[in-house]
Amino acid sequence: MTDAELPAFPLGLRLEGRRVLVVGGGHVALRRVAGLLESGADVHLVSPAVEAALGDLADRGRLHWAQRPYAEQDVDEAWLVFACTDDPAVNAQVVADATARRIWCSRADDALGATAWTPATARTGPATVAVLSGRDPRRSVALRDAALAAVEAELHGRRAEPSRTPRTGGRVVLVGGGPGDPGLLTRRGYEWLAEADVVLVDRLAPLAVLDGLREDVEVIDVSKVPRGRFTPQEAINDLLVQHAAAGRTVVRLKGGDPFVFGRGMEEALACAAAGIAVEVVPGVTSAVAVPELAGVPVTHRGVSQGFCVVSGHLPPGHPDSSVDWTALGRSGLTIVCLMAVHTMPDIAAALLADGVDPATPVVAVQDGGLPTQRVSRSPLSGAADMMVREQVTAPAVVVIGAVAGVSEGIPGIG
Ligand SMILES: C[S@@+](CC[C@H](N)C(=O)[O-])C[C@H]1O[C@@H](n2cnc3c(N)ncnc32)[C@H](O)[C@@H]1O
Repeated sequence: MTDAELPAFPLGLRLEGRRVLVVGGGHVALRRVAGLLESGADVHLVSPAVEAALGDLADRGRLHWAQRPYAEQDVDEAWLVFACTDDPAVNAQVVADATARRIWCSRADDALGATAWTPATARTGPATVAVLSGRDPRRSVALRDAALAAVEAELHGRRAEPSRTPRTGGRVVLVGGGPGDPGLLTRRGYEWLAEADVVLVDRLAPLAVLDGLREDVEVIDVSKVPRGRFTPQEAINDLLVQHAAAGRTVVRLKGGDPFVFGRGMEEALACAAAGIAVEVVPGVTSAVAVPELAGVPVTHRGVSQGFCVVSGHLPPGHPDSSVDWTALGRSGLTIVCLMAVHTMPDIAAALLADGVDPATPVVAVQDGGLPTQRVSRSPLSGAADMMVREQVTAPAVVVIGAVAGVSEGIPGIG
């Protein structure tokens, strides 16, 4: 038996707060980073350039990015190393440096050159399913899916369903990914991801699911970072059409719901115009779920009989704004603002000027559903100061209305 044929020794690593080095900034690195962050790892990324979603994670303080080529001392403090560059010589050097320090190192381009292998994984409830089957990633993924179905049947009493016959022919599936926690992606969303040949992903989608995709799935980062890197919508539409026209199953994985400030219908129309079949999988929208995760209901009997969801990307009074803030202020509805971190001072000022009670509770929920979730509260009169004082940054959902005060101070909710 050669070394390559010996079975790998499986182990569950507890990475919370532990430094993990990822070398490389492309789509393979993105997959690994997403999975590592879900395990709470202290991720250090080294690469002269990175995908937009990785740059965004760095900007949001979720990982450390050294924007330069790899250097030997990078491995020094790491518990685990991933060599994910597209340069085999660099990857080999990373493995060699890690091995010299007895640090386990996975290598994206050459399994036999690595000291650790990354299994095909999936999580369901308290269970993590991880499958290694030699060096054939497709087989690992197929076995993982079969094992996952059995585990789910055991855990949840679900009937283990035989995997569906793969659908053929090019198509686009717009999948709403929920606010970022992979547990809030729907079952149908997971099913389509299992069939995808290409995944176009946004920065606010549940990035952790990328780590569970087959290794041969092409992942394309088309993030739009506010005031940062940006893939034009037309370019995204073209990519969807091109890949589907070539016979591929293209999953467009978005944050929240595709049709709530998600430009999903623009993409569906572009595909329809090109004769490409489109399916839409609704998602859990951050407009409702993010407040809920912080213990804030958007309606509550006796407090609010309805809610409206507004984009705050333009301030009240802006010539291109079509929102009637005066009417909203009078409506008695809960106001849920998305994309409003920078305009909240103007929104609060406009509502106050229109006579809305200055004591109206306001809550801002940043990074809802992620380990970095933060909740800030203030009466409307102090909302502008709160955004600055608490350094609220995007992504955040701001709720204005009496519902924001319903659970304040009550432990165990949210
Ligand atoms: C372009 S909109 C997309 C909304 C998405 N389609 C949805 O249904 O949730 C992006 C905005 O959604 C909100 N958002 C999305 N995910 C969030 C999260 N995890 N925490 C807080 N806000 C979030 C923020 O207001 C962010 O600026």
